Amino acid sequence: MWSGEAGPGVQKAMEIVVALGQIYGAAELVPVASVQVSGVSYKNLGDAGLEFLEEWASQGAWARVPATLNPAGMDMVAWHKLGFRQEFAQRQKAVIAAYVSLGIVPTCTCTPYLIGYEPRLGEHLAWAESSAVSYANSILGARTNREGGPSALAAAITGRTARYGLHLDVNRQATAIIDVRCAVTSEADLGALGYLVGQRIKNGVPCFSNRGTVDWEHRTVGNWGLKTLGAAMAASGAVALYHVEGVTPEAKAEGVLAPGAQTLVVDSLTPAYDELNGPSGAVDLVSLGCPHASLGEIEAIADYLDGQRVKAALWITTARATRDAADEAGLLSRIEASGGRVVPDTCMVVAPVSDLGYRTLATNSAKMAFYAPSHSGLSVRFGPMEQCLEAARTGEWPQLRLVHHESRST
Ligand code: F3S
Repeated sequence: MWSGEAGPGVQKAMEIVVALGQIYGAAELVPVASVQVSGVSYKNLGDAGLEFLEEWASQGAWARVPATLNPAGMDMVAWHKLGFRQEFAQRQKAVIAAYVSLGIVPTCTCTPYLIGYEPRLGEHLAWAESSAVSYANSILGARTNREGGPSALAAAITGRTARYGLHLDVNRQATAIIDVRCAVTSEADLGALGYLVGQRIKNGVPCFSNRGTVDWEHRTVGNWGLKTLGAAMAASGAVALYHVEGVTPEAKAEGVLAPGAQTLVVDSLTPAYDELNGPSGAVDLVSLGCPHASLGEIEAIADYLDGQRVKAALWITTARATRDAADEAGLLSRIEASGGRVVPDTCMVVAPVSDLGYRTLATNSAKMAFYAPSHSGLSVRFGPMEQCLEAARTGEWPQLRLVHHESRST
C-alpha cells in the first residue's frame, strides 16, 4: 500500500495513516475492526470537500473494513418536504455518492452502535464522531482515538490505524475522579454534568465515582443518559473516554486510576443550565435525538405526547434504520398524528437550519445546546425531554425546573 502497488488512492490513505503515526510517535500500525467517518454534511464540507472526496474516489480507493457515515445535512429522502433547497440537496447527494463509491455504508448516523455496528470489547477502531468515540471507548470498551474525517477515511481504505493514544493501555487510565454531590435526575442533568466535567477535564479521562448522588443503575441513566453524558463531555472538552466506577467495562476491576489522579467535585449543575440557556421565551423548533435517538427514546416521546398536538416544529433525529423500526412499531404514526416528525440522516447542528427559517431551538442535549448557537445561528433553550415537549405543545419555554440542580447536603 505504501509503495503504491495497490494504486494511488490506497497509497494516499497509507501516507495519511503513517504520517499520523509519525507525529504521535506510534511504533506500529494496528488493524481496525470498523471505521466511522465524519465530515458528511455539505454545509461543512463545501465544494472543496466534495472535490477532495470525488478525486480520492476516482483513484480507485475502497474501504477494506466495515465503515459507516456520520449524519448528512438533510433527510436524504424527504428533504424536499422538510424545506431543504434543491441546490443544497444536489450537492449533498453528490457527497454521499462519493462516499458510497469509496465503499462507505451511507448510514448517516452518529449512533452506528444502535443499528448493528456495535464494536466488541477490546476491538481497535478508527471512529470520528466524538459522541460515538466516547460511547465506543467508554461503554463498549473498544479502542479508538478521536479521528478526523480524512484520517478515518484513510483507516477505512487501509484497514489500519497507528497504534497511539487510546489504543494503548497506559492512556486509558483515569486522570481524575469525579465526585458528584448534586441531584442528577434526567438525561438533561447528565448532559449538564458532562458539559461541566468536559470544561474542566479537557482531553483527560474522567472516572465517575459510584459513591456520589448519581444512580448509575437507574433507567434514566441507561444507554440514553450515558450517550448524552459522553456527547456533552466531548463537546465542551475533548473527552474521548470516561469510566464509571464498577459500571463501565474497564472500571469493573481495580487499577483504572492513573497515579496522581485528582478529585473533582461537582456540587451544582446550575452553571451549565445558566450557560446553555438563552433568554428566549418563544420556541419555534424542538429537537430531540442528539446523539441520534434509540427506539426506546422515540417510544418515550410518543408516550408523552399521547395524541396532544404540537404548536412548534418537533424534529426527532435518528438513524434511518431506527426510524424504520419505529414505523414498524407504530410509533411514527403516533408522533406524526401529534404533528411531530421523526427525521432520519441529519441533525440540527449539521443541517442548514437557519435556511429553513427557524430561530429558537429547544433541546434536551447539552451537546446540541452547546453547538447550535455557533453552528446554526439558533438561540437555545435546554432542559429535559418533558420540558422540551411542553415547549413543542405551547410554543413557549415552560419554567418547570427551579430547584433541581443545587447540592444536596451530605
Ligand atoms: Fe449526532 Fe448531531 Fe448530536 S451528529 S451527536 S445529533 S450534534
